[in-house]
Amino acid sequence: MQNQVRYDFTETGVHPMYLHELITREELLELYDRVQLRYVQTNGIPALKESICRLYPGATPGHVLVTNGSAEANYLTVWNQVQPGDEVVVMYPTYLQVPGIARGFGATVRPFHLREEHGWAPDLDQLAEQVTPRTKLIYLCNPNNPTAQSSPRGRWRPSSGWRSEWVPGSWRTRSIAAPS
Ligand SMILES: Cc1ncc(COP(=O)(O)O)c(C=O)c1O
Repeated sequence: MQNQVRYDFTETGVHPMYLHELITREELLELYDRVQLRYVQTNGIPALKESICRLYPGATPGHVLVTNGSAEANYLTVWNQVQPGDEVVVMYPTYLQVPGIARGFGATVRPFHLREEHGWAPDLDQLAEQVTPRTKLIYLCNPNNPTAQSSPRGRWRPSSGWRSEWVPGSWRTRSIAAPS
């Protein structure tokens, strides 16, 4: 049904990009000649991993795991980290996959909110109240779906209420569209 309507009010994403915004016609033609339809390296081809590393100073290809979309990365992160009885602190409103899986793995989900009255800025006092010794993950969705609010890096510094001991082994998932 969703694909048969004239106006789709259920879509939460940004306007989709065109292929030509990612790749030139010449590059596309080169792929047309070169690409074989076979199994690829499923954890990310080396050239893609190298490119992703350039976004994160100090990262090496061994730090990067490429997945089929962020949904798979979110799932692997929660599966790897969360045990029954753990707590997961979640920014709301949000894309609801992570709190759902976390509950499925037996965790308690503790919310903190973006406040509309503050331009959808995160309520860092509430975040601090929700973190306990049982907290296994803090899930931030930034830029945020559905508000489109984007917190500058500085907002997550210790001076702003964010505590550096909360990120001992942080995992980042990021949506990147790339031809394989
Ligand atoms: C915050 C967030 N995480 C993950 C996803 C899933 O992304 P993907 O299609 O890359 O699996 C979405 C999709 O809208 C999203 O908004």
